Amino acid sequence: MSRQPILVLGATGSTGRRVAARVRDAGFPVRAASRRGTVRFDWADPATWEPATAGAAAMYLMAPHELPVDPAFVRCAVEQGVRRVVLLSSRAIEAMGDHRLMAAERTVRESGAGWTILRPDWFGQNFDEGFFRPAVMAGELAMPLGNLRQVFVDAGDIAAVAATALTEDGHEGRHYEPTGPRALSFPEALEIITRVSGRPVSYRGTPDDYLAAQAALGIPAEQTQQEIKAYAALRDLGDGHPTPDVRQVTGRDPKPFETYAAEAAAQGAWRDRAV
Ligand SMILES: NC(=O)c1ccc[n+]([C@@H]2O[C@H](COP(=O)([O-])OP(=O)(O)OC[C@H]3O[C@@H](n4cnc5c(N)ncnc54)[C@H](OP(=O)(O)O)[C@@H]3O)[C@@H](O)[C@H]2O)c1
Repeated sequence: MSRQPILVLGATGSTGRRVAARVRDAGFPVRAASRRGTVRFDWADPATWEPATAGAAAMYLMAPHELPVDPAFVRCAVEQGVRRVVLLSSRAIEAMGDHRLMAAERTVRESGAGWTILRPDWFGQNFDEGFFRPAVMAGELAMPLGNLRQVFVDAGDIAAVAATALTEDGHEGRHYEPTGPRALSFPEALEIITRVSGRPVSYRGTPDDYLAAQAALGIPAEQTQQEIKAYAALRDLGDGHPTPDVRQVTGRDPKPFETYAAEAAAQGAWRDRAV
């Protein structure tokens, strides 16, 4: 591939930040884009789209939680010369009825660019950077998943797969499912976090527990019921299983959850922050 810039969306977020670093380390110029990124990009402001995409050869495409991938943006990127798109999607989207990400995948497959779709399992980083952090800090996490085992994956491993697909040939038209090396239940994951952080975190795993926890956050019951339905479909799939995809694409084994947690703790991820 030429050394034209590679556009990385969500470049201040859990995956994008790491994708940008890896692409840069591979010797490619990076456009690190988001509302607060070095290149300003806002899904809500189409005036920011063309400057971000013009002259870029490839793009890491992610939409933040809840936001759709706007097909008009992908059209704009391809018209501006983007020839390779690596999309961050998610595992089990059909079973869970995630129409936002199913539409994003369709858009990318029909874009005319070479595409690679990443369908990772839960990010380990949910516990220290993402939406589980407040619950971890409060000492109690509720999820309607009982003891279902999931294969939490380090965001650095997702980024490594993405960066490889962006910078090397041979990944077009492929779906990858990055996972960690071992499936863990939420209680098992929280036990590890408790051990490395010194913060006891308990788990409540029924739909009623989840409903109560979400209600306490002011989330409407109707929205939570929809989530509970999607999580019930995930439970029906049974425990997750590790895939060989991280190793196959990057040549390295994925990071164990224990290592992720120990590194995050060493960086002070679960210390109280001054307000
Ligand atoms: N968490 C999981 O376990 C999991 C698993 C599978 C798939 N996923 C998928 O991963 C995606 C989230 O990825 P992530 O965790 O890397 O993101 P993230 O850490 O939540 O960060 C979101 C990024 O999007 C940017 N952003 C927010 N609003 C924006 C806007 N209006 N316009 C442009 N940029 C905007 C943010 O930067 P600024 O604030 O600077 O704009 C930030 O860089 C979701 O689509 C989710 O479905 C998540």
